[in-house]
Amino acid sequence: MLAETTLEARHLIQPLFVTDGDVPEPVASLPGISRIPLASLGTRCAELLLLGVRGVALFPKVDPCRKTAEGAEALNPSALAYRAIREVKAKSPGTVVFADIALDPYTTHGHDGVLDATGADVDNDRTVEALVKMSLLTAQAGADFVAPSDMMDGRVKAIRAGLDACGRHGTGILAYAAKYCSAFYGPFRDAVGSARRPGEGAISKAGYQMNPANRREAVREATLDAAEGADILMVKPAGPYMDIIRDVRESTRLPVAAYQVSGEYAALHAAAAQGWLDLRAVRDESLLGIRRAGADLILTYFAEAWARDQTSG
Ligand code: PBG
Repeated sequence: MLAETTLEARHLIQPLFVTDGDVPEPVASLPGISRIPLASLGTRCAELLLLGVRGVALFPKVDPCRKTAEGAEALNPSALAYRAIREVKAKSPGTVVFADIALDPYTTHGHDGVLDATGADVDNDRTVEALVKMSLLTAQAGADFVAPSDMMDGRVKAIRAGLDACGRHGTGILAYAAKYCSAFYGPFRDAVGSARRPGEGAISKAGYQMNPANRREAVREATLDAAEGADILMVKPAGPYMDIIRDVRESTRLPVAAYQVSGEYAALHAAAAQGWLDLRAVRDESLLGIRRAGADLILTYFAEAWARDQTSG
């Protein structure tokens, strides 16, 4: 009777990896998660909808042969990402599609944008131009929300202007407003193939993602994205950044989302596999904690399993 926080299936968004291959491809570092063949993506979303999970966040695994330094495949209207959105909307029109906007699945170096002349950092403004074009293709494919996950400066304003100029007033923007330069993204990079190959050295996105030491800066970033026209503000990762979720919640009247990222999911699974933690209990507690911190919506790889457990009791 006195519980202050609830978790419902409608609060959850399932991230889904998509492949052009014919069979599901399990991701070793994400137990229970596979890249889904395009042809079965729509049915999968319809099943999620029946479970009450209305939102999906789509991430394509781009064929390595199609990657270039500039990530040109992102601007190919028949790229996997756009075919995936069409497939979902054709077979499960009620599913709310959040489509990732960033160049990392498409670039050979794995950065979220195109590199500047030094090759050491991303070129912010040229990247924003590409992100606007990507957003238009995404809207035309039928996505409900574009979700810029790149952390370039000024991209929300440019994307909003670009969408509006093409009459896409109804396409929303879920902004990755406070995205930290985190070590918890490793399994995701395996899943989309954006990690460096062995011997190439680890990729650092510290030039554009946030310093984990900073709290006020997160509110500043979120306030900027809201002023530029974001419809939902996201904090990422979630578990290690609950103070940030709370700060952003109290700084805005917009809905707040949090992304329980791949490394958070993998860590709980790994501990449970050792018999050291009770998976279902820590899953539910971690999600409730993120809600209590102030998230309206949670992107989590646990979405489907959580929703299934509610129906099976
Ligand atoms: C990149 C992107 C990343 C994630 C979502 N979009 C990784 C990165 O910044 O390298 C991570 C999500 C996760 O770890 O679950 N645009």
